[in-house]
Amino acid sequence: MSDAATTPASALPVAGTAYGLGIGPGEPDLITLKAYNILQKADVIAYPALEDGASLARQIVAQHVPDGRIEIAIRITMGQPADPIYDAAALEIGEYLKAGKNVAVLCEGDPFFYGSFMYLFGRLAEAGHPVQTVPGVSSMMACAAQLGAPLAARNDVLQVIPGPLSEERLRAQLGDTDAAAIIKLGRHFAKVRKVIEELGLTDRARYIERATLETQKMIPLGDLPADATAPYFSMILIHRRGDAWR
Ligand SMILES: C[S@@+](CC[C@H](N)C(=O)[O-])C[C@H]1O[C@@H](n2cnc3c(N)ncnc32)[C@H](O)[C@@H]1O
Repeated sequence: MSDAATTPASALPVAGTAYGLGIGPGEPDLITLKAYNILQKADVIAYPALEDGASLARQIVAQHVPDGRIEIAIRITMGQPADPIYDAAALEIGEYLKAGKNVAVLCEGDPFFYGSFMYLFGRLAEAGHPVQTVPGVSSMMACAAQLGAPLAARNDVLQVIPGPLSEERLRAQLGDTDAAAIIKLGRHFAKVRKVIEELGLTDRARYIERATLETQKMIPLGDLPADATAPYFSMILIHRRGDAWR
Protein backbone atom coordinates (compact mmCIF):
# COMPACT_ATOMS: atom_id res chain seq x y z
CA MET A 1 0.00 0.00 0.00
CA SER A 2 1.36 3.46 -0.88
CA ASP A 3 2.13 6.12 1.72
CA ALA A 4 -0.65 8.29 0.30
CA ALA A 5 -3.16 5.49 0.89
CA THR A 6 -2.10 5.02 4.52
CA THR A 7 -1.77 8.71 5.47
CA PRO A 8 -4.95 10.34 6.82
CA ALA A 9 -6.26 12.94 4.36
CA SER A 10 -6.00 15.67 7.01
CA ALA A 11 -2.21 15.11 7.21
CA LEU A 12 -1.66 15.50 3.46
CA PRO A 13 -0.57 18.96 2.34
CA VAL A 14 -3.37 20.96 0.73
CA ALA A 15 -2.27 21.57 -2.86
CA GLY A 16 -0.85 25.01 -3.51
CA THR A 17 -2.03 27.30 -6.28
CA ALA A 18 -0.03 28.65 -9.20
CA TYR A 19 -0.82 32.29 -9.96
CA GLY A 20 -0.02 33.87 -13.29
CA LEU A 21 0.59 37.39 -12.01
CA GLY A 22 0.26 40.29 -14.41
CA ILE A 23 2.81 42.75 -13.07
CA GLY A 24 2.36 45.56 -15.59
CA PRO A 25 4.57 47.00 -18.33
CA GLY A 26 7.55 48.21 -16.31
CA GLU A 27 6.89 50.89 -13.73
CA PRO A 28 6.69 49.10 -10.36
CA ASP A 29 3.60 51.12 -9.33
CA LEU A 30 1.62 49.68 -12.25
CA ILE A 31 1.14 46.34 -10.48
CA THR A 32 -2.43 45.73 -9.28
CA LEU A 33 -3.21 45.46 -5.57
CA LYS A 34 -4.35 41.88 -6.14
CA ALA A 35 -1.06 40.88 -7.76
CA TYR A 36 0.91 42.72 -5.07
CA ASN A 37 -0.93 40.94 -2.26
CA ILE A 38 -0.44 37.51 -3.83
CA LEU A 39 3.26 38.27 -4.34
CA GLN A 40 3.65 39.05 -0.63
CA LYS A 41 2.26 35.63 0.35
CA ALA A 42 3.72 33.39 -2.36
CA ASP A 43 6.25 30.76 -1.23
CA VAL A 44 7.88 30.48 -4.64
CA ILE A 45 8.43 33.07 -7.37
CA ALA A 46 9.02 31.96 -10.96
CA TYR A 47 9.80 34.20 -13.92
CA PRO A 48 11.06 34.06 -17.49
CA ALA A 49 14.73 34.99 -17.83
CA LEU A 50 17.38 35.20 -20.49
CA GLU A 51 20.17 32.64 -20.64
CA ASP A 52 22.33 34.78 -18.34
CA GLY A 53 19.51 35.00 -15.78
CA ALA A 54 18.52 38.62 -16.55
CA SER A 55 14.76 39.06 -16.25
CA LEU A 56 12.66 42.16 -16.93
CA ALA A 57 9.78 40.64 -14.94
CA ARG A 58 11.99 40.07 -11.88
CA GLN A 59 13.42 43.57 -12.26
CA ILE A 60 9.92 45.14 -12.34
CA VAL A 61 8.92 43.66 -8.98
CA ALA A 62 12.36 44.00 -7.34
CA GLN A 63 11.10 46.39 -4.66
CA HIS A 64 8.00 44.29 -3.94
CA VAL A 65 9.53 40.83 -3.35
CA PRO A 66 9.90 39.89 0.31
CA ASP A 67 13.24 38.35 1.38
CA GLY A 68 13.70 34.61 1.57
CA ARG A 69 11.47 33.47 -1.27
CA ILE A 70 12.38 30.43 -3.34
CA GLU A 71 13.03 31.66 -6.89
CA ILE A 72 12.85 29.80 -10.20
CA ALA A 73 14.35 31.55 -13.23
CA ILE A 74 12.88 29.93 -16.34
CA ARG A 75 15.76 30.47 -18.75
CA ILE A 76 14.65 30.76 -22.34
CA THR A 77 17.44 30.03 -24.78
CA MET A 78 17.04 31.91 -28.07
CA GLY A 79 16.95 29.59 -31.07
CA GLN A 80 16.25 26.51 -28.94
CA PRO A 81 12.85 24.78 -28.82
CA ALA A 82 10.90 26.24 -25.92
CA ASP A 83 8.66 23.22 -25.26
CA PRO A 84 11.20 21.20 -23.21
CA ILE A 85 11.94 24.32 -21.13
CA TYR A 86 8.25 24.81 -20.29
CA ASP A 87 7.83 21.06 -19.69
CA ALA A 88 10.64 21.12 -17.12
CA ALA A 89 9.42 24.35 -15.50
CA ALA A 90 5.87 23.03 -15.20
CA LEU A 91 7.17 19.84 -13.54
CA GLU A 92 9.29 21.83 -11.07
CA ILE A 93 6.41 24.17 -10.23
CA GLY A 94 4.08 21.17 -9.97
CA GLU A 95 6.29 19.62 -7.27
CA TYR A 96 6.00 22.77 -5.15
CA LEU A 97 2.22 22.83 -5.66
CA LYS A 98 1.92 19.20 -4.56
CA ALA A 99 3.91 20.10 -1.43
CA GLY A 100 1.30 22.77 -0.62
CA LYS A 101 3.35 25.78 -1.71
CA ASN A 102 1.83 28.71 -3.61
CA VAL A 103 3.78 29.75 -6.70
CA ALA A 104 3.63 33.22 -8.27
CA VAL A 105 4.66 33.25 -11.92
CA LEU A 106 5.63 36.81 -12.87
CA CYS A 107 4.25 37.97 -16.21
CA GLU A 108 5.24 41.27 -17.76
CA GLY A 109 2.09 43.20 -18.73
CA ASP A 110 -0.93 40.90 -18.81
CA PRO A 111 -0.41 37.12 -18.70
CA PHE A 112 -2.90 36.25 -21.44
CA PHE A 113 -1.93 39.01 -23.87
CA TYR A 114 0.78 37.26 -25.90
CA GLY A 115 2.33 36.23 -22.56
CA SER A 116 4.55 33.15 -22.28
CA PHE A 117 2.73 32.25 -19.04
CA MET A 118 0.03 30.66 -21.16
CA TYR A 119 2.42 27.79 -21.99
CA LEU A 120 2.79 27.05 -18.28
CA PHE A 121 -0.91 27.61 -17.69
CA GLY A 122 -1.79 24.95 -20.25
CA ARG A 123 0.64 22.42 -18.83
CA LEU A 124 -0.27 23.01 -15.18
CA ALA A 125 -4.03 23.09 -15.77
CA GLU A 126 -3.93 19.95 -17.92
CA ALA A 127 -1.96 18.20 -15.16
CA GLY A 128 -4.81 19.05 -12.75
CA HIS A 129 -3.02 21.73 -10.69
CA PRO A 130 -4.99 24.73 -9.40
CA VAL A 131 -3.99 27.72 -11.54
CA GLN A 132 -5.33 31.26 -11.41
CA THR A 133 -4.58 34.18 -13.70
CA VAL A 134 -4.42 37.71 -12.36
CA PRO A 135 -4.80 40.27 -15.15
CA GLY A 136 -2.30 43.08 -15.45
CA VAL A 137 -1.83 46.43 -17.15
CA SER A 138 -0.81 45.45 -20.66
CA SER A 139 1.97 47.24 -22.54
CA MET A 140 -0.53 48.23 -25.22
CA MET A 141 -2.56 50.21 -22.68
CA ALA A 142 0.60 51.67 -21.15
CA CYS A 143 2.01 52.72 -24.56
CA ALA A 144 -1.24 54.49 -25.47
CA ALA A 145 -1.27 56.31 -22.13
CA GLN A 146 2.38 57.37 -22.36
CA LEU A 147 1.98 58.54 -25.95
CA GLY A 148 -1.25 60.41 -25.19
CA ALA A 149 -2.72 58.42 -28.08
CA PRO A 150 -6.11 56.79 -27.40
CA LEU A 151 -6.19 53.40 -29.12
CA ALA A 152 -9.68 53.34 -30.62
CA ALA A 153 -13.08 55.02 -30.45
CA ARG A 154 -16.61 54.63 -31.74
CA ASN A 155 -16.70 51.74 -34.26
CA ASP A 156 -12.94 51.62 -34.91
CA VAL A 157 -11.59 48.11 -35.32
CA LEU A 158 -8.37 47.84 -33.32
CA GLN A 159 -5.80 45.36 -34.62
CA VAL A 160 -2.87 43.87 -32.75
CA ILE A 161 -0.25 43.00 -35.35
CA PRO A 162 2.94 41.03 -34.57
CA GLY A 163 6.01 42.43 -36.34
CA PRO A 164 7.32 38.97 -37.36
CA LEU A 165 4.45 38.59 -39.89
CA SER A 166 5.51 38.57 -43.54
CA GLU A 167 5.62 41.82 -45.49
CA GLU A 168 2.58 40.70 -47.51
CA ARG A 169 0.54 39.93 -44.42
CA LEU A 170 1.55 43.19 -42.77
CA ARG A 171 0.49 45.08 -45.88
CA ALA A 172 -2.85 43.27 -45.96
CA GLN A 173 -3.53 43.82 -42.24
CA LEU A 174 -2.50 47.47 -42.21
CA GLY A 175 -4.01 48.23 -45.61
CA ASP A 176 -7.46 48.92 -44.29
CA THR A 177 -6.78 49.37 -40.59
CA ASP A 178 -8.63 51.93 -38.47
CA ALA A 179 -6.20 51.53 -35.61
CA ALA A 180 -3.31 49.18 -34.89
CA ALA A 181 -0.72 48.27 -32.30
CA ILE A 182 2.32 46.64 -33.89
CA ILE A 183 4.21 44.59 -31.33
CA LYS A 184 7.39 42.46 -31.27
CA LEU A 185 9.35 44.89 -33.42
CA GLY A 186 13.02 44.17 -32.65
CA ARG A 187 14.76 42.86 -35.78
CA HIS A 188 11.50 43.25 -37.75
CA PHE A 189 11.44 47.02 -37.31
CA ALA A 190 12.85 48.00 -40.75
CA LYS A 191 10.36 45.73 -42.56
CA VAL A 192 7.41 47.10 -40.58
CA ARG A 193 8.53 50.68 -41.13
CA LYS A 194 8.83 50.10 -44.90
CA VAL A 195 5.25 48.79 -45.11
CA ILE A 196 3.90 51.71 -43.07
CA GLU A 197 5.75 54.10 -45.36
CA GLU A 198 4.41 52.40 -48.53
CA LEU A 199 0.86 52.63 -47.19
CA GLY A 200 1.24 56.34 -46.49
CA LEU A 201 0.66 55.87 -42.76
CA THR A 202 3.95 57.23 -41.42
CA ASP A 203 2.47 60.51 -40.24
CA ARG A 204 -0.18 58.52 -38.36
CA ALA A 205 2.35 56.31 -36.56
CA ARG A 206 3.91 56.79 -33.13
CA TYR A 207 6.89 54.80 -31.85
CA ILE A 208 7.61 53.97 -28.21
CA GLU A 209 10.14 51.70 -26.50
CA ARG A 210 10.36 50.46 -22.90
CA ALA A 211 7.15 52.25 -21.98
CA THR A 212 6.94 53.38 -18.34
CA LEU A 213 10.52 52.29 -17.58
CA GLU A 214 13.18 54.90 -16.79
CA THR A 215 14.72 54.15 -20.21
CA GLN A 216 11.47 54.87 -22.08
CA LYS A 217 11.78 56.66 -25.43
CA MET A 218 8.92 57.85 -27.66
CA ILE A 219 8.85 59.74 -30.92
CA PRO A 220 6.66 60.14 -34.04
CA LEU A 221 7.77 57.32 -36.37
CA GLY A 222 8.64 59.76 -39.16
CA ASP A 223 11.10 61.60 -36.90
CA LEU A 224 13.29 58.53 -36.37
CA PRO A 225 16.50 58.42 -38.44
CA ALA A 226 16.27 56.23 -41.54
CA ASP A 227 18.72 53.69 -40.05
CA ALA A 228 17.06 53.54 -36.62
CA THR A 229 16.76 50.16 -34.90
CA ALA A 230 14.28 49.07 -32.25
CA PRO A 231 14.55 46.80 -29.21
CA TYR A 232 12.17 43.91 -28.60
CA PHE A 233 10.26 45.93 -25.97
CA SER A 234 8.92 48.48 -28.42
CA MET A 235 5.68 49.17 -30.22
CA ILE A 236 4.16 51.32 -32.96
CA LEU A 237 0.65 52.68 -32.55
CA ILE A 238 -1.25 53.82 -35.63
CA HIS A 239 -4.58 55.57 -35.94
CA ARG A 240 -5.86 56.29 -39.43
CA ARG A 241 -7.53 59.56 -38.37
CA GLY A 242 -4.36 60.61 -36.59
CA ASP A 243 -6.19 60.92 -33.28
CA ALA A 244 -9.01 58.62 -32.20
CA TRP A 245 -11.10 61.55 -30.95
CA ARG A 246 -11.36 63.13 -34.44
C1 LIG B 1 5.39 38.63 -25.94
S1 LIG B 1 4.61 40.21 -25.93
C2 LIG B 1 4.10 40.27 -24.25
C3 LIG B 1 3.10 41.34 -23.97
C4 LIG B 1 2.74 41.47 -22.52
N1 LIG B 1 2.17 40.25 -22.02
C5 LIG B 1 1.79 42.62 -22.28
O1 LIG B 1 0.66 42.43 -21.81
O2 LIG B 1 2.18 43.74 -22.55
C6 LIG B 1 6.02 41.27 -25.94
C7 LIG B 1 5.77 42.54 -26.73
O3 LIG B 1 5.00 43.44 -25.96
C8 LIG B 1 5.43 44.76 -26.20
N2 LIG B 1 5.89 45.34 -24.94
C9 LIG B 1 5.94 44.74 -23.75
N3 LIG B 1 6.36 45.60 -22.80
C10 LIG B 1 6.57 46.77 -23.42
C11 LIG B 1 6.99 48.06 -22.97
N4 LIG B 1 7.26 48.29 -21.67
N5 LIG B 1 7.10 49.05 -23.89
C12 LIG B 1 6.80 48.83 -25.18
N6 LIG B 1 6.39 47.64 -25.65
C13 LIG B 1 6.27 46.63 -24.79
C14 LIG B 1 6.56 44.71 -27.23
O4 LIG B 1 6.00 44.92 -28.50
C15 LIG B 1 7.04 43.29 -27.05
O5 LIG B 1 7.67 42.84 -28.22
